[in-house]
Amino acid sequence: MNWSQRVSLPPRFVDWSIFLLLAIELASGLISLTTGRPGGRAVFVLHSVVGLALCVLVFEKLRRVRKRVSRPGAWDQATPVSVLLAVVTLGALGSGIVWVLGGSLALGPWGLLNLHIGLGLLLVLVVAIHLYHRWRPPQRSDFEGRRTVLSYLLLVGVGALTWRLQSVFNEWVNTPGAERRFTGSREEGTDAGNEFPVTSWVADDPDPIAIEEWELTVAGEVKRDLALDYEAIAAEGIVTEEVGSGRNEGAGSSDDGRLRATLDCTSGWYSVQDWRGVRVGDLLEAAGTAESARWVSFRSVTGYRWSLPIEEAREALLATGVGGERLTHGHGFPLRLVAPGRRGFQWVKWVTEVEVRERKDPGQWLAVFVSGFDSEGDGKNSENG
Ligand code: HEM
Repeated sequence: MNWSQRVSLPPRFVDWSIFLLLAIELASGLISLTTGRPGGRAVFVLHSVVGLALCVLVFEKLRRVRKRVSRPGAWDQATPVSVLLAVVTLGALGSGIVWVLGGSLALGPWGLLNLHIGLGLLLVLVVAIHLYHRWRPPQRSDFEGRRTVLSYLLLVGVGALTWRLQSVFNEWVNTPGAERRFTGSREEGTDAGNEFPVTSWVADDPDPIAIEEWELTVAGEVKRDLALDYEAIAAEGIVTEEVGSGRNEGAGSSDDGRLRATLDCTSGWYSVQDWRGVRVGDLLEAAGTAESARWVSFRSVTGYRWSLPIEEAREALLATGVGGERLTHGHGFPLRLVAPGRRGFQWVKWVTEVEVRERKDPGQWLAVFVSGFDSEGDGKNSENG
């Protein structure tokens, strides 16, 4: 007798619990993409514990349906989708576990964690088709009683224990997974100047920027619009010019334009670096913010953009250099945002516009996915790390 028979778990309990845990996995996975501060660690722990608990339910489900699937002639038109669902689910679970245990995989510009995320997202589609064919609404009776509570406690217990044992194993064998950050990312190129990965997120891939034609503008909810050339930005102190007047305002100063910060990319690596550039707080001071200023949006030459609450933005840096070197084109020359605690895709590269706003920019999520598709780059560099 197996464990679910012993506690008499109804099939629909197993099926809908799988659905519930998958939803938690997808939600925690998506939230984890924008989580980079230690305070957000719980999201990753939840993702791991629930993912491992899910393995138990998936195993139970496969045990239940295996005869039906392996019997010739028992297939109907929806069975191929069910088999595909099993394959994608096992792929998502397996790739997550192998990543945590220190595994890696080179898939062109992508790695194992990208595969994991891709399979996780694919699950949404396959689950939707599966449910369309095999819809059996949950019944209250399937979830009543102490058994339901005990089953969930048992599942969470198994997930938590396996998660703990896994970290003991990682440390004992000293796998690459043992050294990962709480975000799951592994160290690459710390303090090695530009020698950290240039990884891709979307299609952003501008041609190298001709510095004589580039300028940084600061506009929006400010008292004075600014337009700064590279020399002004790269100089020890910022010398600002009011747009239109051509006058030297000399308002900003950045004698401390240095920041040690961790770039943590959602494709699974992080790099701790000394960044050098201009503090956004100095730029905002030079422009003078209006009463209504609440958010600051940073826009790339490609249209890619991200915004930060103004207090956080003041502490961020627009970097011209890393580890004593000038930023390379792939890392966002002439200027990239350094936003401590944010994930790599939020560290906008090739910044050309700073817009001070009253509200958060709702279009930024769309921009990160569509920017770059209409540009004519060389296909080697993209947004993100
Ligand atoms: C957008 C979707 C997803 C993202 C961004 C994501 C992200 C991650 C990350 C970063 C890790 C590594 C955590 C660590 O190193 O501690 C991980 C592990 C894992 N993920 Fe996901 N994931 C997603 C979807 C899913 C889905 C749908 C499932 C379930 C089918 C899943 C199951 C797992 C499992 C089982 C692990 C390993 C946990 C462990 O062994 O400790 N993930 N995921």
